[in-house]
Amino acid sequence: MDDLDKIKQNYLNSISTASSLDDLEQIRIKGLGKKGEVTSLMKAIGSMEESERRVKAPKLNFLKTEIIEEIEKKKLLITEENINKRISVEWLDVSRPSRPSQMGKIHPISQVTEEVVEIFSNLGFSIAEGPQIESDWYNFDALNIPPEHPARQEFDTFYVDSNPDSGSPPHVLRTHTSPVQIRHMEKENGVPCRIIVPGKVFRSDYDQTHTPMFNQLEGLAIDKDLTMSHLKWTLEEFCRAFFEVEDLELRFRSSHFPFTEPSAEVDIRCSWEDGILKLGQGESWLEILGSGMVHPKVLTACNVDSNCYQGFAFGMGIDRLAMLKYGIPDLRSFFEGDVRWLDHYGFDPLNIPSTNSGLR
Ligand code: DAH
Repeated sequence: MDDLDKIKQNYLNSISTASSLDDLEQIRIKGLGKKGEVTSLMKAIGSMEESERRVKAPKLNFLKTEIIEEIEKKKLLITEENINKRISVEWLDVSRPSRPSQMGKIHPISQVTEEVVEIFSNLGFSIAEGPQIESDWYNFDALNIPPEHPARQEFDTFYVDSNPDSGSPPHVLRTHTSPVQIRHMEKENGVPCRIIVPGKVFRSDYDQTHTPMFNQLEGLAIDKDLTMSHLKWTLEEFCRAFFEVEDLELRFRSSHFPFTEPSAEVDIRCSWEDGILKLGQGESWLEILGSGMVHPKVLTACNVDSNCYQGFAFGMGIDRLAMLKYGIPDLRSFFEGDVRWLDHYGFDPLNIPSTNSGLR
């Protein structure tokens, strides 16, 4: 047996007795590493006589390949053995209860928005949307609130910083969803229409019942023969379905909004017994929304012929509706992102929100 055969036999022996992947790696380094035994022999090829090289070079190459192949074979074997060992000791008790999984909750505002949308869809209203950053023309002027109008001050408006030289009109964070009335009516085929607009609005105000961002729902119905009685019926149907009180009584109290004439604030009958609010009974009234017949000037601002078309509009706070229906005391908590609060007041996501999935 010549030297190479001996070397080969040595490696094959140690490979076959290796018992771990680490052992194999050591063997590989010993033979084929940078300073390995076989590597050194291969380095020496360069300085061999031509005749010797012709014989030894192929043999060395062959030896190297054989060692690599044997190592790979043994690797597979050891890996398989390792797996079999684990399978024989590790086990899984499939009868154990699963780990508790955390399920998210639907935020009351999402729930109430779904409920409101469902009720108005059943009444033939569709959803419209508009931008949260508005020009002051859409937010005020077109709604018959000219610059000097006192209502502009009442709104606690957030103005958006702009370059005075840019020539672009002043912009505001919309203070209400009413500008979407304008955006909808000015479109081609904007009227006749029946739309609702759920969305975020912004005012600089902060206490138990006010937050700088809150959610409103706007309603608008325009046609040739709509009257205040349609408004009254629509709002009665809505309130009775939403609060789930069949004979809920509404009171229309004369009021003033620049964009409606006549205007009415709407209250629902309620009682406060021992600090608990009950809707639909008692001698108290709770204000829930503003409404009225759309002012002819608003129609004109949208290029709608006010001699031909008329209609009604209303606006309410979605968060306020949620507070009333689900007994949530502080508006600020809606936006604090506290998961304990959401866990308590939120809704089960598997309970598809619907008009009556809330209270039952
Ligand atoms: N935009 C009013 C507000 O934010 C609410 C409102 C009142 C909207 C009467 C209307 C309406 O469409 O007719 O206070």
